[in-house]
Amino acid sequence: MNTSPAVLTARHGDVLVATVQNPPVNALSAEVRRGLLAAVDQAESDPDVRALVLVGAGRGFIAGADIREFGKPPLPPALPEVCKRIEACGKPVVAALHGAALGGGLEVAMAAHYRIALADAKLGLPEVQLGLIPGSGGTQRAPRLMGVEPAIELMLGGRHLGAREAKEAGLLDGIAEGNDAQAAGLAFAADLLRAGVGVRRTRDRAMAQDIDAARAALREIRAATAKKTRGLFSPLKIVEAVEAGLDLPFEEALRNERQLFLQCVDSPQRAGLVHAFFAEREVAKAPETKSAQPRPIASVGVVGGGTMGAGIAVAVLDAGLAVTMVERDEASIARGRANVAKVYDGLVAKGRMTAQAREQVLSRFHGSTSYADLKDTDLVIEAVFEDMEVKKAVFAELDRVCKPGAVLATNTSYLDIDAIAAGTSRPQDVVGLHFFSPANIMKLLEIVVPAKVSADVVATAFALAKKLKKVPVRAGVCDGFIGNRILAKYRQAADYMVEDGASPYEIDEAVRGFGYPMGPFQVSDLAGGDIGWATRKRKAATRDPRARYVQVADRICERGWFGQKTGRGWYLYPEGARTGTPDPEVLAIVDAERERAGVRPRRFGAEEIMRRYLAAMVNEGANVVHERIALRPLDVDVTFLYGYGFPRFRGGPMKYADMVGLDRILADVREFAQEDPLFWQPSPLLVQLGAEGRNFDSLNRAAAD
Ligand code: NAI
Repeated sequence: MNTSPAVLTARHGDVLVATVQNPPVNALSAEVRRGLLAAVDQAESDPDVRALVLVGAGRGFIAGADIREFGKPPLPPALPEVCKRIEACGKPVVAALHGAALGGGLEVAMAAHYRIALADAKLGLPEVQLGLIPGSGGTQRAPRLMGVEPAIELMLGGRHLGAREAKEAGLLDGIAEGNDAQAAGLAFAADLLRAGVGVRRTRDRAMAQDIDAARAALREIRAATAKKTRGLFSPLKIVEAVEAGLDLPFEEALRNERQLFLQCVDSPQRAGLVHAFFAEREVAKAPETKSAQPRPIASVGVVGGGTMGAGIAVAVLDAGLAVTMVERDEASIARGRANVAKVYDGLVAKGRMTAQAREQVLSRFHGSTSYADLKDTDLVIEAVFEDMEVKKAVFAELDRVCKPGAVLATNTSYLDIDAIAAGTSRPQDVVGLHFFSPANIMKLLEIVVPAKVSADVVATAFALAKKLKKVPVRAGVCDGFIGNRILAKYRQAADYMVEDGASPYEIDEAVRGFGYPMGPFQVSDLAGGDIGWATRKRKAATRDPRARYVQVADRICERGWFGQKTGRGWYLYPEGARTGTPDPEVLAIVDAERERAGVRPRRFGAEEIMRRYLAAMVNEGANVVHERIALRPLDVDVTFLYGYGFPRFRGGPMKYADMVGLDRILADVREFAQEDPLFWQPSPLLVQLGAEGRNFDSLNRAAAD
């Protein structure tokens, strides 16, 4: 008998079945690892046992490492040891997979001598997403089973393979019918024993048939990976581990893999990625999701069929719900409908959707010019022009036609949702749902909570986010909510640097060097400079007259240079090019503005650019938390990871600040405040935490308790 509660063993004739039982996902806790070792010992020592079958109880085989052990001292036995022991077993070991066999779970399966799976199995090595490499023989066994290139692709992409794909790739010996992994495993073991087939160790296979060809392929992969995963630590370690496996004996290659794995564990990128992983789960927990039940949502209305309305409609259709879109006139609804259809046409053209599936999806779409058609919808999302009067008129109509209990949401970027709600007779039903462009692709959804909204409406918004597969972040009402409010600050810091001597191109380069896919001036060219210009004009009357205001962007917009769509903006886009080239005329405008402002330009290095950019971001992030606009620092992090391109391996701006030290950020803010005390006011929260020697994560932890 096996004493581990996490791995139960039972004899079935001459086969021992070891069942991993560690709900909910059979993560590889120390208890499970111990149990697996004991099961192998038992199979070997019992003379009546001729084969061992490994299965998972419940939803799947083994979903991977136990995330509760992250960051804690390792407990024996280590997984590499367990895998080695399984592989060394003198009797055939069959892994019978169903559900998730991911990460360490797949490494266990690859150490077994045979692998079969039910049709629902998902196989993958997603360690790279947490800044790691497979560290229990995965980098050595996967190439032996699948071939070097497919194995690297699996490990670098973090993708899951379905059973059929995994079989074709060589990871599986068979796919079994039915839904009983244990029965399938026993049948397979019986066949083996009948045929007198013994152990078959993955380690005994060659890493590659043609070593020279594999080496050449790896050189190419290494170069491509370095380019694609710019700045990331673990992807190249995966390539390195496989490369070493071509030359080293198996045992040595495993030791090498372990070394590389430990380097990844120690890398600051891992801390950032693990934080991102947990933060992403934590944001879905808001007070209202605990205290209230969501209202049922089967149909959704969208008012406005422009850029955002159409994208939102697609997101809702993709989730399987019905959409009624209302526009102001026939021509506009025709455009709205075309905007929606265009997305699906694109998928059909790329072969990613059948024409029939397109028809089916669009049959759930209904376009109208009459608000009366929204009378039965459960939730309406307004995405009309960013203008308070227009929005108020729309909400008056919604108030008139919508059924009692319908949720009324606005996608406004900046406007006061309390004021929008106050214009209706049902402020308890009004909430902000701030999507990001393109709304059917971007994951972030800011759920903006006005003062009078009822808790079940907020809970409904979170439930909708889940249905739409969005990452929801709860935000309070203020100018720009979490994301755009903080963006406004660091964009301003960037504009100041331009006037003080940095070129927009130097700033973009520094920001990319930090790990962003694009710099702020490239983003502005992509989104269209006219959007920000309109906002600046609207706010001109209320701007603090003492505040520094840089006019370079206005000079550029006045020329009609709005970015990619007009062929030039901060950059030149000759003949519809998507990557811009620096524009000497823009630099001349910058020079003229410096002169007009009486600024003597100085040089900025990349390091100073980033210090200023991030100090502005973190300082305003602290204000947003201090004012309870964001529940916790981690909500700011997730907003920037999912809506603003902040590099995931740095965990988000607040996590980044914790890693460099809040005292250093505060010292930067104070240093910059000597030039401009109005702009660089240290956030009270930053000052307080600095004085107490605490960090942002202490607030995350306090909120979780
Ligand atoms: P857009 O100009 O592309 O579309 C607005 C649509 O609203 C137009 O099709 C217009 O015909 C329609 N419309 C205007 N008045 C209407 C009325 N009374 N009834 C029905 N339809 C009406 O604007 P866009 O970019 O889609 O923005 C919409 C909202 O989304 C704004 O509040 C904006 O701030 C917000 N938003 C925009 C983002 C972006 O990147 N464009 C990102 C996040 C939010």
